[in-house]
Amino acid sequence: MKLKNKTAIVTGGAGCIGSAIVDKLAEEGAHIAVFDLDESAMEKQCAALTAKNIHIEPIPVNICDYADVQRAVLSVKERFGKIDILVNNAGVSARKEMRAFADQKLEVVRRVIELNLFGTLHCIHAVLPSMIEAQSGKIVNIASLVGVNGVWGNCDYGAAKAGVILATKTLAIEVARKNININCVSPGKVPRQEDIPEDEEAFARQFTFLSRMCTGRDIAEMTVFLTTEAASYITGQNFIVDGGRSLGLKGDYCGDCRPCKK
Ligand SMILES: NC(=O)c1ccc[n+]([C@@H]2O[C@H](COP(=O)([O-])OP(=O)(O)OC[C@H]3O[C@@H](n4cnc5c(N)ncnc54)[C@H](O)[C@@H]3O)[C@@H](O)[C@H]2O)c1
Repeated sequence: MKLKNKTAIVTGGAGCIGSAIVDKLAEEGAHIAVFDLDESAMEKQCAALTAKNIHIEPIPVNICDYADVQRAVLSVKERFGKIDILVNNAGVSARKEMRAFADQKLEVVRRVIELNLFGTLHCIHAVLPSMIEAQSGKIVNIASLVGVNGVWGNCDYGAAKAGVILATKTLAIEVARKNININCVSPGKVPRQEDIPEDEEAFARQFTFLSRMCTGRDIAEMTVFLTTEAASYITGQNFIVDGGRSLGLKGDYCGDCRPCKK
């Protein structure tokens, strides 16, 4: 166990990738505070892990509301005594409201940036003072391939995730001497439960160069590695975990590219 007695906060910990990160942290012996809006999903998840003797607590919080985040962070300090790890995972694109920027409503753009960029910054801002005081900490931000490459309809989400990647690099410089590491993991396409296709192989062929789809576990492995001592010389980096998708044009990156779908 590489994280025995470490305390970790995972935002969006009840979602697809977040729950895989929570499971992996638990396997490594960490105590976990889950920050999420979805109270019933969190309760279910925490009950299942508590039954396996894992110290995990659900903390309902809206990361877009800084006062709410401060309250939640204080509650973690009271309940767990310290914060060693913060994984900023909560986030989402406009999904069904996605459209070309010229046709997009600015309120949608603002909402997407508020959640993905400000939500992440709120949590870092609230947690940093205690990490600085402890002269120790590991922060991992879940960004996206969409924050590295342009994707149609994702001006807001791409800008927010690119902002997260650059905030990571800037903060890494600012907190390095405090013994705090901060990095990003950028997933490619990770189907959520409701998106899992019938033909997983065809989906994998469409979206990666490997022969299988990406899972939350793939993202969790890299994320949790970055929270361990083995990664203590790594900071300010963005790790793309996409099965090679970004190595070349593939699937919806090239629109109608028949040859690469074979
Ligand atoms: N799934 C993908 O293909 C993919 C690809 C690239 C990046 N990502 C990123 O990975 C992260 C996780 O995505 P996912 O696919 O697991 O999404 P998901 O929708 O399954 O999970 C997101 C979780 O965040 C919570 N959440 C949403 N708004 C919140 C708020 N204001 N305050 C607190 N919690 C909130 C939701 O309740 C949910 O549990 C996100 O940052 C996403 O942008 C996902």
